[in-house]
Amino acid sequence: MFEKITAAAEDATEAMFLRLAEDPRSDKLDLGIGIYREEGGEIPLMECVRQAERRLISEGMHKGYLNPLGNAAYCREVLKLTLGEQHPLLRDGSLVCAQTPGAGGALRTAAELVKEINANSRAWFSDPVWPHQMDFFLGAGMQIQRYRYYDLKTTERLDEAMIDDLRQMQAGDILVLHGSCHNPTGEDPDINQWQRLTQVVLDTGAIPLVDVAYQGFGDGVEEDVAGLRLMAAQVPEIILAVSSSKSFGIYRDRAGMLAFCRQGKNPQETALRHRLRDCIRRNYFMPPDHGAALIIDILSEPKLRSLWVQELNGIRQRIAGLRRDFRLAMENQLDGFDGSFLERQKGMFSCLPVDADQQQRLEKEFGIYMLPMARMNFAALAQSQIEQVAQAISRTR
Ligand SMILES: Cc1ncc(COP(=O)(O)O)c(C=O)c1O
Repeated sequence: MFEKITAAAEDATEAMFLRLAEDPRSDKLDLGIGIYREEGGEIPLMECVRQAERRLISEGMHKGYLNPLGNAAYCREVLKLTLGEQHPLLRDGSLVCAQTPGAGGALRTAAELVKEINANSRAWFSDPVWPHQMDFFLGAGMQIQRYRYYDLKTTERLDEAMIDDLRQMQAGDILVLHGSCHNPTGEDPDINQWQRLTQVVLDTGAIPLVDVAYQGFGDGVEEDVAGLRLMAAQVPEIILAVSSSKSFGIYRDRAGMLAFCRQGKNPQETALRHRLRDCIRRNYFMPPDHGAALIIDILSEPKLRSLWVQELNGIRQRIAGLRRDFRLAMENQLDGFDGSFLERQKGMFSCLPVDADQQQRLEKEFGIYMLPMARMNFAALAQSQIEQVAQAISRTR
């Protein structure tokens, strides 16, 4: 059987990582993968995670099986963190949750379950999109639609076009949004646009699915979920896919949450929970627990929690500083270049206005690697590399 296998379609992201791995230059720069690095290039282990890990071990943890829905205490903590402890959904809503292997696991599970419940539902994604986000839904056999979101050339958000496109949604369609720090553009809707999106959801009967992967990387832990909280308080149903990978720096531990939230009582709550449990069981049986167990400790123990907030604030401020200095360097190097979008945008990523030829030259001539659409990861850029990158970009013009 194996000899009959034909090659998979090339994935542009994977292809970039392959070229990067094969590049022998010692000064090559990986500005592609979405990981936070320190000035020297190390991937730090947050001190709050180190301390929680020590506590877990000293308290005599065991590693027995859990269940397909994973760690319920983790889901409770993550719901409080994303929605806020006083949110009406936590008080009177119906919440059906699973702890998943990262937000990736949550997105794939959401897609499968939605497809199973409503075969005609279509999923709507921003243009430009983080391609893997859409792949989870394509893989589950869902129909895909796109909405205009951001103009890569002018670096402007397309608020009107977005609303126009989304008015075409039908009841039961899934509107995929990013909680904050949109991947790949770093461009987030402002609070007015969140309110307008809420109205479109109410008018069309679509169901928002908010992918929260960068809480704390934009303006702050609370600020980054303000739009999502506003929407979640008004729409009848909302789906959350939350990642702990970036906010806690535990990428490979695979901790995330999927939550189906509904205002008021849901007479079908148990049926939905069983469907979710069965969907997970037949896919991966049950999620890993280690990351989730750490996060329960960090969020519920006041000292660890304030250490986490402090560390996350440091990360956010460092990224904002890198964005500011990169803007200045670019404006110095490139005549007439307006880099204000680099400071307006939030979190790890922005798409630089360089075309595919320039991007290829950046790789070949300067060993600077970014993802398709020139998505650059500011969280992997060292202060000492800013001039080098800005100069390289100016030379490829
Ligand atoms: C928007 C978005 N959602 C989800 C994920 C996946 O996160 P996780 O590591 O929790 O699977 C990412 C990772 O890059 C992301 O950018």
